[in-house]
Amino acid sequence: MPAYAVIGGQWGDEGKGKVIDYLAGRSDCVVRFAGGNNAGHTVVNERGEFQLHLVPSGICWPDVTGVIGNGVVVNPEVLLGEMAGLRQQGIDTERLFISDRAHVIMPYHIALDALQEQARGEGAIGTTGQGIGPAYVDKASRDGIRVGDLLDTRQLPDRVTAAVEMKNRLIQGVFNGDPLEVEPVIDLCRQWGEQLREFVRPTEQLVQDLLADGKRVLLEGAQGTLLDVDHGSYPYVTSSSPSIGGAITGLGIHPQAIKGVVGVFKAYSTRVGGGPMPTEMHDEAGKDLREKAHEYGTTTGRPRRVGWFDAVAARYSRQINGFTGIVLTRLDILDGMESVKICVGYRADGQEVARFPANTGLLERCEPIYEKMTGWDAPTASATRTDQLPAKALAYVRRIEELVGCEVQIISTGPSRDETIAIDPVIH
Ligand code: GDP
Ligand code: IMO
Ligand code: MG
Repeated sequence: MPAYAVIGGQWGDEGKGKVIDYLAGRSDCVVRFAGGNNAGHTVVNERGEFQLHLVPSGICWPDVTGVIGNGVVVNPEVLLGEMAGLRQQGIDTERLFISDRAHVIMPYHIALDALQEQARGEGAIGTTGQGIGPAYVDKASRDGIRVGDLLDTRQLPDRVTAAVEMKNRLIQGVFNGDPLEVEPVIDLCRQWGEQLREFVRPTEQLVQDLLADGKRVLLEGAQGTLLDVDHGSYPYVTSSSPSIGGAITGLGIHPQAIKGVVGVFKAYSTRVGGGPMPTEMHDEAGKDLREKAHEYGTTTGRPRRVGWFDAVAARYSRQINGFTGIVLTRLDILDGMESVKICVGYRADGQEVARFPANTGLLERCEPIYEKMTGWDAPTASATRTDQLPAKALAYVRRIEELVGCEVQIISTGPSRDETIAIDPVIH
């Protein structure tokens, strides 16, 4: 004991990778619990710059154990490539373990992701195309292949044959797509099993043992609460539970093990893919902010939609997760703006909307009610103490705290590990 969770408070890309790399210095183990390589987590420290999709973002610390938990969907090709890339950058990957219960993203999942998106036409979700949704569908429908199955060479050919044949019926019959050949998929699975064997463990036991030994375990969220399949802006969401509930099922630990839940928020908002975003800026100012902030997806390179900080959505996110603290990132991006805005309420159909609505149509119609604050001239970039922040920037942070109803424990003022203001160490 104890575990601390770091959860995306918005639509993903809040800077979780940076925060995890920073906090991992006070941890023994970093664990991914949901999502797959739809995630793109950027880590910048004295060892270089890293784009991590599956490997936990604590990997740069020599004594930190990395775990990919059962709730993650694993594309072995991507994982092995990422591990090889890290080794080339001088990072040791021997302390990385993968759950035998994690589901495998198979080639037909990637094919189906593309076919389904095409079939959705105008209503496309704008997925990352990594096969995430179809892999979670198979998990829920009990047709999935798990990492442990890749090691069972006796059963594997039959399992894979049945799966490919079933998917081919779907691919051809429903989507008029090209079928997959069975044998190459079996060979691929065999190779993956051989290459991953040494890393595969019953990770729920491993994490429970670490906690029982008094080790500090950091739970690394992927995506964000507003992309949660239950609590997000459905159907424009991912297929997993990126909020705190997903950490429990995605690791096999109990809620009492978790001492702190920190929500990571950007000082403004971004979203990639389709779906409502009440504070989206459609004007030149929005374009300027995107360019200044270089808001392009880590996984797909797509331009991210940008908008003002949405305190209605943030408060909702705080409630869903029970945040014990906030990490506010990218404050430096707002440096030099004449004024900044915070959305403090929604209005739709002539009435105020009290909370983040479940109905996508209603969320689409929500007009933000803004509070305008004076900007700041002096930079916050690279600050490491609150007394280095301009008063107006600090006032902005305090207002966010008030509106969300949760203390800001860390302010991030740049992409590097050391560009951080730790008001509270989070991990005790
Ligand atoms: P994640 O998916 O939540 O880990 O976030 P991403 O890595 O996809 O996107 C966040 C981007 O912001 C990355 O390029 C980070 O290097 C960068 N970043 C993180 N924190 C800060 C910050 O405080 N200031 C600036 N300027 N960049 C940051
Ligand atoms: P990190 O961990 C931002 C979005 C996609 C799409 C929707 C569904 O880097 O914050 P999927 O491929 O999951 O079926 O796509 O979810 N999405 C993300 N957006 N950051 C992410 O991860 C995301 N992972 C998925 O853009 O709108
Ligand atoms: Mg990202």
